[in-house]
Amino acid sequence: MIPKIDPTSTLSWKRLKAHFEDVKALQMRDLFEEDSSRFERFSVQRENLLLDFSKNRVTEETMALLRSLAQECEVEEGIKAMFVGAAINETEHRAVLHSALRNRSASPVYVDGENVMPAVQEVLAQMQAFAYRVICGEHKGFTGRPIETVVNIGIGGSDLGPYMVVEALKHYANRLDVRFVSNVDATHLVEQCKGLDPETTLFIIASKTFTTQETMTNARSARAWLIAHLGDEDCISKQMVALSTNRSAVEDFGIDLAHMFPFWDWVGGRYSLWSAIGLSIMLAVGPDHFEALLEGAYEEDERVQEEGVESVSGILAMLSVWYGNFFGVETHAVLPYDQYLHRFPAFLQQADMESNGKAVDRNGKRTTHETGSIIWGEPGTNGQHAFYQLIHQGTKLIPCDFIAFAQSLNPTGDHHHKLMANCFAQGMALMQGKDEVTVRKELVASGMDSVQIDALLPYKVFKGNIPTTTLLFDRLTPRSLGQLIAIYEHKILIEGLLLNVYSFDQWGVELGKELAKPVLKNILDRTEVDDLDASTRGLILAMQNFTNRSS
Ligand code: F6P
Repeated sequence: MIPKIDPTSTLSWKRLKAHFEDVKALQMRDLFEEDSSRFERFSVQRENLLLDFSKNRVTEETMALLRSLAQECEVEEGIKAMFVGAAINETEHRAVLHSALRNRSASPVYVDGENVMPAVQEVLAQMQAFAYRVICGEHKGFTGRPIETVVNIGIGGSDLGPYMVVEALKHYANRLDVRFVSNVDATHLVEQCKGLDPETTLFIIASKTFTTQETMTNARSARAWLIAHLGDEDCISKQMVALSTNRSAVEDFGIDLAHMFPFWDWVGGRYSLWSAIGLSIMLAVGPDHFEALLEGAYEEDERVQEEGVESVSGILAMLSVWYGNFFGVETHAVLPYDQYLHRFPAFLQQADMESNGKAVDRNGKRTTHETGSIIWGEPGTNGQHAFYQLIHQGTKLIPCDFIAFAQSLNPTGDHHHKLMANCFAQGMALMQGKDEVTVRKELVASGMDSVQIDALLPYKVFKGNIPTTTLLFDRLTPRSLGQLIAIYEHKILIEGLLLNVYSFDQWGVELGKELAKPVLKNILDRTEVDDLDASTRGLILAMQNFTNRSS
């Protein structure tokens, strides 16, 4: 099973605490000055990827202590347990095997004694056959016209992953217009369907459970829209497909089981883009690019098993534990310097925060240490003109990950050089800062008098010493995107193992779902609202009053 070691009980943790006192005031710019080989020693160079973590507040000793923490926490055992299909999601009694979905080797993968690879390959083949037929226009809508638009209806992992990838791989897209609807707010469905031709629209209902309120509400409205326009219930068999683990619910909904693409309970929602949930991706970019995405992820699966905490994922995970628990950092910015990755921070938010946002450890006890951090971000350079001010000069320490690609997919003039210059310059600025002496010199040179200089000087100083990690790939391809996603998936796994939390359940989303039921009943009944707290009651009554007044 999975190790259950409280990291704070280890000798390495105690050493890290003492070590933190020694290094907390170190300035990264001094570390670079003192050590001309710092970049080489704190970076990982691979064929198509460079991880530069030299601009972090770490020394060789920090990394050695973090490695020994990983050893004491038996992280390697945890990694092994995941890949061999042990039920490491213990609170749900499930294996965690998104890696099996991208297993490119001939090796079997067992869950409860059964090799899951034949089923994985069968569904992949089913998806490929369907995708080819839709893309080449052979799969027709109810009235005999080829499909032009695909609308994926799903939420959480059944939306964020596929949506992020479809956006990220737009450069590789074919003729199909692939859209996403997730919010139960009808505006999302209505706006995404505006102007669509019902005869040429295919809906994908993506839901692991096929019971999620938002998805099923949108799915029912989409079905009604199709039937209203096409005038026959039989249109559903041609123009609605399902991605799910719940066969009977798909059947009850009325979707032809020949158009159900199954997956399994050992695929977590936020790790499911590699499964049938990726059908929208396959439709958008074609089966070959989807396979390349799987290959990229497989490469990282192999690496993390070979290299453990020395892998890129391992380094990211150790740094996150270091900042979260010793520097008291609460948030972590993920800043892709590539417009195609504009949904990557949102995807990562679910992947990371739903996985490691836990306060009870694997022994059932409340943790005394910090767990998952708040992940957020926007593509560079937009963020620079929005929130970077707070990163540079605010009161909070916010480590940043920069994600960039050496070559542009849209080489146009000097755009890409400027984009990269901004990315690298931000890392430099956040690390170096700008001290009082330099600022004073500049102000003197600008001709200001000493009173003016003294008044302005404090505002122009940058304290610097803000950690950044840069992941630089050669080019954004399906394969490198697969690598990138898997790198972060394994970062989350390793961080969860270090922090002794169960990374693959998500009980925290249940309470809100449960309470939505009585609240909805009260809203629909329009009766006396009771059994609710005064604030919620007040909100419902105000909503009813506003609605009554305008109707
Ligand atoms: O938000 C909770 C959650 O269970 C996620 O983990 C999941 O990705 C999402 O809901 C959607 O669930 P389903 O695919 O079952 O509709």
